[in-house]
Amino acid sequence: MKATAKAHTNIALIKYWGKRDEALILPTNNSLSLTLDGFYTTTTVEFREELTQDIFYLNDECISGIPYTRVSQFLDLIRDIAKKPNLFAQVKSTNHVPTAAGFASSASGFAALASAGSQAIGLTLNDQELSRLTRRGSGSACRSIYGGFAEWDKGEKEDGSDSFAVPIAPQDYWDIRVAAVVLHADMKKVSSRVGMKRTVDTSPFFKGWVDSIPQDLKQIKSGISERDFEKVGSVAEANCLKMHATTLGANPPFTYWHDTTFTVMQHVQMLRKKGIPAYFTIDAGPNVKVLYLPENEEQIKQELESIPGVTDVILSKSGQGITYI
Ligand code: ADP
Ligand code: DP6
Ligand code: CO
Repeated sequence: MKATAKAHTNIALIKYWGKRDEALILPTNNSLSLTLDGFYTTTTVEFREELTQDIFYLNDECISGIPYTRVSQFLDLIRDIAKKPNLFAQVKSTNHVPTAAGFASSASGFAALASAGSQAIGLTLNDQELSRLTRRGSGSACRSIYGGFAEWDKGEKEDGSDSFAVPIAPQDYWDIRVAAVVLHADMKKVSSRVGMKRTVDTSPFFKGWVDSIPQDLKQIKSGISERDFEKVGSVAEANCLKMHATTLGANPPFTYWHDTTFTVMQHVQMLRKKGIPAYFTIDAGPNVKVLYLPENEEQIKQELESIPGVTDVILSKSGQGITYI
């Protein structure tokens, strides 16, 4: 009744931003991501007859409050499927990624929990079933089941049965790299969940965002199939800017950016003017991820490290999907 799984984070090139159903975590739009080898979570789940409630340790700290409830409610889903409603678990998780800082810890965290939890209780799920289950913990996590590029199909059905991620291209398809430019690894003030809800409920720009997705998806998929870095990078960068623009239209308005976020974005655009292909994307946090090609790695790292306010630059390749340890 014990299993350990490792899951990597993923960076969305076409963002998931908005839910049509909050309880089931059904998105308003498809999203597309690259799994990263540099950031991951390992989670061990052990179901034990003598426990009267779940216990959750994250980075050796016993967790209570909302993060505990999210884990325990997710385990309820697993207990439900396994028809073992009174079997509680001890969960021990380690994030090799900053938690709740815009580095997608919820993606690697819930992908690892879903995999280890379902295996520990004795379920055998295929990738599609596992992705659909993982979605219920955190939307972005359903893409982390796969290595390389993955697309989360929003689905059409109200019960969410057709909403899960599918593989687009495996880890070794294309050596495209991502530099995570660390400005602040502090916890964000507005979680992804709260931020996207406020945007859906109040931002007049939200409709424009949703309407623009099919075209972006079509373009980026053709860029991936042609291994056209400029095409993939420019679509991803524009999609990120559109997503962040919706938050400025919300009520009350908010932004995940800091002044240094903007400095890094301008630096990346300046690098392109100098002939170095590089594009940025930003999740729900101030830190910037820069897409680049292997031949430019040294220069990219040097340039990014030289920007005032940058505390670290962490380089990632395309990562693998779920593994069991
Ligand atoms: P992030 O940018 O890190 O994904 P989110 O606001 O989306 O930020 O999610 C952060 C939340 O994800 C945490 O507050 C916690 O509830 C959950 N989380 C992070 N890591 C783990 C983990 N290893 N196991 C379970 N839940 C986790
Ligand atoms: C900006 O998956 O963290 O990173 O489903 O509420 O847990 P919940 O939110 P989450 O949102 C991620 C938002 C994003 C874009 C993306 O990863 O697609
Ligand atoms: Co998240």
